[in-house]
Amino acid sequence: MSSPLVEVSAISRTYAMRSGMFGRAAAVHAVDGVSLTIARGQTLGLVGESGSGKSTTGRLVLGLEPPDRGAVRFDGKPMTALGTTAWRAQRARMQMIFQDPLGALDRRLPVATQIREPLDIHGIGTPAMRDDRVRELLRAVELTPAHGARYPGALSGGQRQRIVLARALATKPDFLVCDEPVSALDVSIQAQVVNLLCDLQAQLSLTLLFISHDLRVVRQISNVVAVMYLGRIVEIGSADDLFARPEHPYTQALVSASPAPGRRSAGRIVLSGDPPNPAARPAGCAFHPRCPRAIARCASEVPALSAVGGDRQVACHLVTGAATRDAA
Ligand SMILES: Nc1ncnc2c1ncn2[C@@H]1O[C@H](COP(=O)(O)OP(=O)(O)OP(=O)(O)O)[C@@H](O)[C@H]1O
Ligand SMILES: [Mg+2]
Repeated sequence: MSSPLVEVSAISRTYAMRSGMFGRAAAVHAVDGVSLTIARGQTLGLVGESGSGKSTTGRLVLGLEPPDRGAVRFDGKPMTALGTTAWRAQRARMQMIFQDPLGALDRRLPVATQIREPLDIHGIGTPAMRDDRVRELLRAVELTPAHGARYPGALSGGQRQRIVLARALATKPDFLVCDEPVSALDVSIQAQVVNLLCDLQAQLSLTLLFISHDLRVVRQISNVVAVMYLGRIVEIGSADDLFARPEHPYTQALVSASPAPGRRSAGRIVLSGDPPNPAARPAGCAFHPRCPRAIARCASEVPALSAVGGDRQVACHLVTGAATRDAA
């Protein structure tokens, strides 16, 4: 088996946050000891509530900011320092797509010019070749060259996100970080854009880190899913298996709130307690105040992410402390 394209080892990022004018600075552990690998051509879905550290993980993986601790390797090499020539070469192979396509585009320029921009910046091909490539990219995202002459304001939300995708693909990247790429779109358009992303991924052998709080969308696109809670991964494993048999009480609650397509939500688990506050992360297992099954140990000891059979890893004293499911 070939080596993974992306290897993330125990990365952490803490921010200082001040509350009120004279408030004391609190440390927000946005990302705390996150490790994951993404195999070539695969999609890792990253899910979790708002503030769980998904976007920060995406930025650290892309090297947009350095982790306080830990390391990221891309295609077997360490992420190079920001701004160097080596970083620019590495960065041309990775792209990021955000939630808001209008914010990512310049309203004053025709979209074809914006798709062409990365080719100009990286000096790829002759001017005529770049024009051909822009037309090819527009077709790849199921638009026409006529759309290229339009300005962002004259396109629909779904069309704008296709333009952002076309621009991201211009330099033929291997790796895309998609941060809530369809969350701002109409539900009916979301599936179209996700299907397009799936098709392009297969055609171009793209590797994806797909960030979303929407399990329905993540289920559609991911091979592997990682669930984050207040900066830590609490469960990770193959998508189908994880959605069919979630082990962590938090994943169980998320999955029960988002039934599989065509299935009714049977016995939805409602999370009790306050929603998580990243600036005041509970000791022990950060989920314990909301966990319906918490025991005394959960309040004092952080559970380690441990293998429980198959490729599943879970950070929960109740799961890893008991006999593991496939171990017998
Ligand atoms: N640049 C920053 N400065 C200070 N705090 C930050 C910064 N970036 C993120 N944080 C904090 O880190 C925590 C994690 O934020 P992050 O944006 O990664 O979460 P998220 O899972 O992407 O949430 P959402 O679903 O709302 O996008 C939050 O508490 C956030 O306020
Ligand atoms: Mg985010």
